[in-house]
Amino acid sequence: MVELDGEKIVVTAALPYANGEIHLGGFASTYLPADVFARFCKLRGADLVYVCATDDFGTPIMVEAEKEGKSPREYVEFWNKRDKEDLEAFEIRYDLFYKTSSEENVKFAQYFFKRLQENGFIYKRSVLQPYCEKDKKYLPDRYVRGDCPFCGAKDQYSDGCERCGRTFEPGEVLNPHCAICGGVPVTRESEHYYFRLSAFSGKLEDWLKGNKNLQAEVKNYVLKWISDGLKDWDITRDIPWGVPIPVEGANASLYLWFDNHLCYISTALKVLSQRSVDGKEFWNGAKIFHFIGKDIVYHHYLFLPAMRLGVGEYKLPDYIPTRGHLMLHGRKFSKSRKWYISLREFLESFPPDYLRYYLCAITPCSQSDVNFDWDDFQSRINNELVATIGNFVHRTLTFIDSKFGGTVPHPAVLGPEDKEFESSILGAAERVGGKLREVEIDRALKAVLDFAGSCNQYFQKKKPWADAESAKSCLYLSVNAVAALAILLEPFLPNSAEALWRQLNLPSSVHEARWEEASRFVVEPGHKIRKPEILFRKVEDGEIRRQKEKLLKALPSGET
Ligand code: 2FM
Ligand code: ZN
Repeated sequence: MVELDGEKIVVTAALPYANGEIHLGGFASTYLPADVFARFCKLRGADLVYVCATDDFGTPIMVEAEKEGKSPREYVEFWNKRDKEDLEAFEIRYDLFYKTSSEENVKFAQYFFKRLQENGFIYKRSVLQPYCEKDKKYLPDRYVRGDCPFCGAKDQYSDGCERCGRTFEPGEVLNPHCAICGGVPVTRESEHYYFRLSAFSGKLEDWLKGNKNLQAEVKNYVLKWISDGLKDWDITRDIPWGVPIPVEGANASLYLWFDNHLCYISTALKVLSQRSVDGKEFWNGAKIFHFIGKDIVYHHYLFLPAMRLGVGEYKLPDYIPTRGHLMLHGRKFSKSRKWYISLREFLESFPPDYLRYYLCAITPCSQSDVNFDWDDFQSRINNELVATIGNFVHRTLTFIDSKFGGTVPHPAVLGPEDKEFESSILGAAERVGGKLREVEIDRALKAVLDFAGSCNQYFQKKKPWADAESAKSCLYLSVNAVAALAILLEPFLPNSAEALWRQLNLPSSVHEARWEEASRFVVEPGHKIRKPEILFRKVEDGEIRRQKEKLLKALPSGET
C-alpha cells in the first residue's frame, strides 16, 4: 500500500496528440482517473507533481497542419490551448500542461539520444522508404495514401482504413500515392537510427516480474512479447517536424514516440525547478505513476522503461494504471461516423461533475472495456448521485436551516445508533482512501456511495422530525457526515464538493482541506451554515431521449 503523507509523488497522464479534441475515451481511461488520484494525493498532503502535455510532433500533425494552411507550430498551439480549456472545464488542472515541442523537452530528448548512443544502444541502419521525386521528400507514414488492402476503400492513409477500421503496415496499401501531389512514390534508401530494444529483454523481464504494483493481466502479455523476442526500434523519421536528431549533418527527426514520454520527465523537471527543487533527486525519490489507456501498453511497458534503463539517470515507473476502451452504446466511438460525444457537447447539457461521476463509477481499474450508455447514465445520476448522496445532504442541511435556524445543535447524550453512526463517520476516510491508494477509483466511489446510503438509513431510523431531543445528536452527527462527504467527494466531484463546503460555511476551500479531516468532526456545535441549495438536479427522461435521438441519426438506416 502506498503511504502518501509528505511523500513525493509524480502523476502523469498520457499526452493527447495535438490534432483534435480530447476524446471521451481518453478522458475516461486516463485524464479523469489521473485527476482523481492526484487530487487525493494532494488532500493526503503528498508532495505532488502532476503534469501532462500535448504530443506535438509527427507526420499526422504535419499533414493536418498543411491541409489547414498553417505551420505545424501554429497548428499545435491551437490544439494545446483547446485541450487545456476542455480539460479545465472538467476541473482537470495540472501543475503544468506543457508540450513535447517545448525547448526543454527537445533538449531533454536530444540528451537522452546522446546518452543512449554513448552507451551503445543506438545504431544506424539503411532502410528503404517511399520517396516523392516531385516534392523531393521522403514520405513516412501518413504521407502515403492508397486503397485499403482489405475492403478496397479508396484514398486511405497507409497505416489504416477509416472505412473498415483495420490497420496495416507501410507498404501494404494498394495503389500508393503521395499525399501531397498525388504522384506515385519511388523507393529510396535512407539512413535511420535504431534503438537496441532487444538488449533490454532480460532487464525488462526482471523489472516487470519484480514490480508488484503493475497490473498482472497487463504484465503477463508484456512478458509474452518479451519471450517472443523484442525487435529493435526505428527511432527516426524523414520529416522536419520533430526533435532534430542531435548528430552533425543529420536532417531528419526523432520519432515522436522517442520524445513524447520523455516529456513526462522534462515537464516535471520544469515544475520542480520553478519550486527551486532538485528535479532529478525528487524524481528518483518519488513514486512515479503514469496513467494510460490500454492501446499504448507496448510503449509504456517496454520502450519507456528500456530508454530509462539505457540512460540510468531517472527511475522507472512504480505504477502504470492501465484502463480499457470506452464504448458508446456497445459500439466503438467514431467521430467520422458521428457515433461520438464531445466533451464540449456534454457540457451543453449537463454539469461537468455528472460526467466525472458516471465515468468514475463505471470504469474499473483494469483493461476491461467500459460502456457509456445514456440510460445507465440517467439511472446512476438519479439513483445514486441525486437520490442517495444529494438527498442525505439536502435533508440534513434543510433540517438544520428550518428547525434550528441554520445553527448546528449541541449533541445530547449519544445512544447506541448514534455511536454506531459516529464510528461509521470516523472510518469513512479510511474505507474510501484505502481504495484510492490502490487507484481503484470505481470502488472508492462505491465506498462513498455506501457511506451516503448508510447516512440516509441512520437519518431515516432516527426520525429527527419526531423527537426534538434526539434530533440534536442526529443533526450534529449528520452535518459532520456531510462535511466528511464534501472531503471524500472532492477528488471525484471537485465543483460539487466545493459548493457543499460553501453551504456548510466552512473556512477556506475544500480543495485545501486534509483528507483526515473527514474523520475529525470539523463542524462544531453552534456553527452557522448557509442557506441550503439543491446540489444535484435529476436528469429528465426528455434529456436522455434527445441524446439518444442525436446518436440514432448517426446509425445506418435499419440499425437500432
Ligand atoms: O497514443 C497517444 O495518444 C499518444 N499521444 C500518447 C503519448 S503518451 C506518452 F507521451 F508517452
Ligand atoms: Zn508528391
